Amino acid sequence: MTNLVMVTREDELLPGSRLHLELGEESVILLNYEGEFFCIADLCTHDGGPLEDGDVFECQIECPRHGARFDLRTGKVTRLPATDPIPVYPVTIKDGMVYVEEPEPW
Ligand code: FES
Repeated sequence: MTNLVMVTREDELLPGSRLHLELGEESVILLNYEGEFFCIADLCTHDGGPLEDGDVFECQIECPRHGARFDLRTGKVTRLPATDPIPVYPVTIKDGMVYVEEPEPW
């Protein structure tokens, strides 16, 4: 059964902002990219680097270590050297609050 976790108020995470969260046993990043919310794992599949400080553009995040890129919507790799996707977690906005689906350990 899905467990939705309330993580912040919608108006507290402005476009261009991000929030690092511990959800269950996973580190994740909640991002507001151009007014749309995304939640991704904070772990690059190339060599385990954190994605938290990666640049975001064209709905992708770039790993600061070696430059792999991942699509925020799907987690798919959009640039090497990573080849495996990162987990993404559904985000729900309800009554001005932001909820994230608690991840399964991966
Ligand atoms: S650890 Fe992310 S690209 Fe290498």
